[in-house]
This record gives sequence, structure tokens and C-alpha cells, in this order.
Amino acid sequence: MMISKRLQTIVDLIDKDLNLVDIGTDHGIVPVEVLNNNYNKKIIATDINPKPLSRAESFIKQNNFEGKVDLRVGSGLKPININEADQILVAGMGGELIADILKSDLDKAKYAKQMILQPMTKVEELRKFLIDNGFNISKDIVIEDNQSKQIRYFHILVVNNDKGIDYGPFELIFGPTDQINISQDYKHYIKRKIDQYEKRIASMNNSDNFNTIRRRLEYERRLKFLIEVYESTKNC
Ligand SMILES: C[S@@+](CC[C@H](N)C(=O)[O-])C[C@H]1O[C@@H](n2cnc3c(N)ncnc32)[C@H](O)[C@@H]1O
Repeated sequence: MMISKRLQTIVDLIDKDLNLVDIGTDHGIVPVEVLNNNYNKKIIATDINPKPLSRAESFIKQNNFEGKVDLRVGSGLKPININEADQILVAGMGGELIADILKSDLDKAKYAKQMILQPMTKVEELRKFLIDNGFNISKDIVIEDNQSKQIRYFHILVVNNDKGIDYGPFELIFGPTDQINISQDYKHYIKRKIDQYEKRIASMNNSDNFNTIRRRLEYERRLKFLIEVYESTKNC
């Protein structure tokens, strides 16, 4: 089965020694793919809506894994008992929704030895939520996915007990910059951000509105940071 780079990266990050809870599984691709990779721990897959869950059930059957995934309807971590939440995956939702899901059941989130979180939006807010609540972000990856012709960037955060990343104010927005040595995708992401900020700043240049000027100055600081990061990656 061909799966997207986003989902493949998530599958590769799953710890095969921990039980897996896939919150908001939708199509059920992740459970099927981990089973294809000889994963033999318990898998629970949930969704707030019964419809996607029955879609996941059919997909699991089609792949001859009937009975191998415990499917449960419900919101966030509600359908899970605390001692089942070894490894939590929440992917393909907004960063604020992911933070809300964790906040509503903080004891379960804290019990997990590993969480893999893939926000579609508001990654800065999710990073802040995690840090403010004493979670340790050990990996913070950007991937470039151009499967749908349009290039898209996805953030994937891994929370566990490995060494945590020290975030400065700009890293909270754009992700840690130490990954520049290993990731071409991160370089492309930074370049995309530089282009976006240059356009935004240009569109604000003639304004004498106080708030616009303040925002423009902030964007100029961000742009300076991004250019420095980009320049430092040139030889990588
Ligand atoms: C865009 S899909 C993402 C599917 C898959 N996780 C992925 O990354 O490709 C989001 C899924 O999350 C489900 N969902 C939304 N809010 C939820 C919540 N509070 N608890 C559980 N599932 C939720 C939706 O019904 C939908 O099936």
C-alpha cells in the first residue's frame, strides 16, 4: 500500500514495544500499516464519529487484520482507560484541538511513555501548551509532502522522556533549528517562510497604522531570524 510521506513518517516513529492508541484514526491507515510492519502490541483506534470508524473497520478487514484493532467511538482520550494509554498518536487535527484533547485528560497524557502529535495548524500554540504543562518534546520534525502536486509542510512532534529541545522564542514558531544539518525538508520550509514574510512585509510597507507598523517590525525580526537560519544551512 502506498501511504503519504506524512503518515509513513508517523508510522516510522511509533515505538513497537509500546501499545498504541490512535486518536481520530479516520481511515485506519496507521493501524493497518503498523500491523503490516509486524507490530504485535495492542492497538486501540478511536474516532469521535462512528462513520470514519466503520470505514476504518472495513479497511482493517480488507487487509486481513480483523480483530487486531480495538475500535472505540468517543472524543479524545475519553474512550481509553489510563493504563491503556502507553503510546498516544493524535494526527491530522488542529494544534488547539490536540492541546484540548490532552488538557481534558492530562493524567492519561502524562501516563503515556510516548506521544506522537501531528498538528495541521497552530503548532506554536501546541508547543507552548506542551512546555507549559511539563511535557518534553524530544523530536520536532518538518516534512515536505508534495503528493497532491501542491507542496505542503507538516510538523510532527514526539513527546517522551528523551532529552527535550530548548526552544527560543523563534524556535517556538518555526521549530528547532538544530535539525538543519539533517533535513532538506526543513531548509525548504524555512525558504517558504522567508518568501511569505517578504511578501507580507512588502504589503505593509506603505501603512502608517500603528498596529500594522508594530506587526511589520515583528515580521522583520522573524524574517531576520529565518534568513540567518537559511544562510547557516547553505553548506549542509
Ligand atoms: C483529518 S482526520 C485525520 C485522520 C488521521 N489521524 C490522519 O492523520 O490522517 C481527523 C479525524 O479526527 C476525528 N476527530 C475530530 N475530533 C476528534 C476528537 N475530539 N476525538 C476523536 N476524534 C476526533 C475526525 O472525525 C476525523 O476522522
